Amino acid sequence: MITNDFWLERWQAGRIGFHQEGVNPKLMDYWPILAKQSKVLVPLCGKTNDMIWLAEQGYQVTGVELSSLAIIEFIGDNDLTYETHQQGSLKIHKVNELSIRLIEGDYFAFNEQNFDACYDRAALVAMPEPLRKKYVQHTLQRLTDKAFLLLITLQYQGDKKGPPFSVGAEEVIQLWGNQIKKLASENLMETNPDYRDGSYTSFEESVWHIDQN
Ligand SMILES: C[S@@+](CC[C@H](N)C(=O)[O-])C[C@H]1O[C@@H](n2cnc3c(N)ncnc32)[C@H](O)[C@@H]1O
Repeated sequence: MITNDFWLERWQAGRIGFHQEGVNPKLMDYWPILAKQSKVLVPLCGKTNDMIWLAEQGYQVTGVELSSLAIIEFIGDNDLTYETHQQGSLKIHKVNELSIRLIEGDYFAFNEQNFDACYDRAALVAMPEPLRKKYVQHTLQRLTDKAFLLLITLQYQGDKKGPPFSVGAEEVIQLWGNQIKKLASENLMETNPDYRDGSYTSFEESVWHIDQN
């Protein structure tokens, strides 16, 4: 079972192969233009630079992350400063230079609501199967009725066990409902040599959205 300690240990050991140096190209390609100041939730945010891009588009970004190291590295890597206050079991870090808040703690203890949009890259697929339904329900409860969702999933066949876990189209639709639509798919074995080490027979990345506007 993947526990919170599993992730904390991965950050301590620097085993963060999921982290991408640049901004995710699929975010830039598929994120719509939303009203300025829209509240964007980034669950299980790690230290992703995607939060910087979203803040630069004029949104109020809230990332939620278990590991204090991820937060310290995000701040340090981007030469930022922040102020912190405690709220229950969560630490709220407010970045001074950009409209970004980093919530340090367990996502399931984070109960704010009324987010206008959500960006999930490597969050749903980080959740083991028994937690996925709870994760999606918890996320939907954080969002307004008309909220926009951009979701990036992986589906693969091969020897390796997750995380990231393979989550197929049927499961995505079962979890998020019929309103979720697939926008694009990429066979990473064709486009990225890292996926051709013999561990996989297929490896597909898909982009999904819920757009009710
Ligand atoms: C696969 S990483 C993805 C990070 C980020 N979305 C990205 O694209 O780089 C999953 C992250 O979720 C965090 N995490 C796992 N379980 C969590 C939980 N219950 N609450 C908050 N963060 C969690 C881990 O520490 C890790 O940084």
